[in-house]
Amino acid sequence: MNMSTAPELLEAALPDRWIDGESSVFRENFDRKSFEVSHHLASHPLFQLPQLMDLAERTLKTRPLDLYYDMGDVAPGQKWKDTNRNFSPLDALRQLEDSDAWFIFRSAQKDPAYTELYRQAMAEIKEMIGGDLNSRIMREDIIIFVTSPKRTTTYHIDRECNFILQIHGEKELYLFDREDRQIPPEEEIERFWTIDNNAPNYRPELQNRALTYRLAPGNGVHVPVNCPHWLQNGDNISVTLSVNVQFIDSIRADIYRANHYLRRLGINPNPPGQSAVRDRAKAMAYSTASAVRRAARSALKRGG
Ligand SMILES: [Fe+2]
Repeated sequence: MNMSTAPELLEAALPDRWIDGESSVFRENFDRKSFEVSHHLASHPLFQLPQLMDLAERTLKTRPLDLYYDMGDVAPGQKWKDTNRNFSPLDALRQLEDSDAWFIFRSAQKDPAYTELYRQAMAEIKEMIGGDLNSRIMREDIIIFVTSPKRTTTYHIDRECNFILQIHGEKELYLFDREDRQIPPEEEIERFWTIDNNAPNYRPELQNRALTYRLAPGNGVHVPVNCPHWLQNGDNISVTLSVNVQFIDSIRADIYRANHYLRRLGINPNPPGQSAVRDRAKAMAYSTASAVRRAARSALKRGG
């Protein structure tokens, strides 16, 4: 199928729903535990490589910061700053079979061709989760990952709660339990929320604690916030859609930030969730201190 298909034929070929699932599974496990989902997006015309090439060209012209790319044979524990970004992304995308490349199309819903897809996928997921989810969401978007055969996606945690939906090709997702305080230690989570997006360090000796999901066209996995993960692409080009929500979690994030600074003062702070009173006090102290710092900076700028 391609973009020149007559609209009535296209409509007849599209399913009523893109994502399948039991509401009870979504409701009970959302942002608590990973779970598998199934979907029909592998047949969606917008995920064919020629359409993704067009999307790359449009993104580079209009929102260049929303197309991330790197190249190379990376290890799971490699840091993002150590990857090669010095190449032509369009050439690498054209030669994807051999270019060892990794592309992230961020906020793909901002491209008008992809807006409706985002609306529908997000609406279906929210409907299955139910409840007053909208009041907890700060930001939502879709991301498309396109990778060369055998590419590794390095170990990391995300700020968002994800539904990773595999479209083309097969790959393994290795997912760790966020409650296991060795993976990553509390200190690395604090650094992640405070100063370093790539703070968690991969520990190969703990790899056997990972849950392994085999991603293939038509399936996917829900990844809760703070669950470390890495991915290994198979011997194929891979296209993956991630449907993301980021929560209004300023209180929890502020506790991690407060703990980061307490640790630097030599104090061993308690992680969030052990005492509501202490958590509220820390979050308030951190946000008050931040407001004071912001006010001082703006006074200095004004010369006052
Ligand atoms: Fe991720």
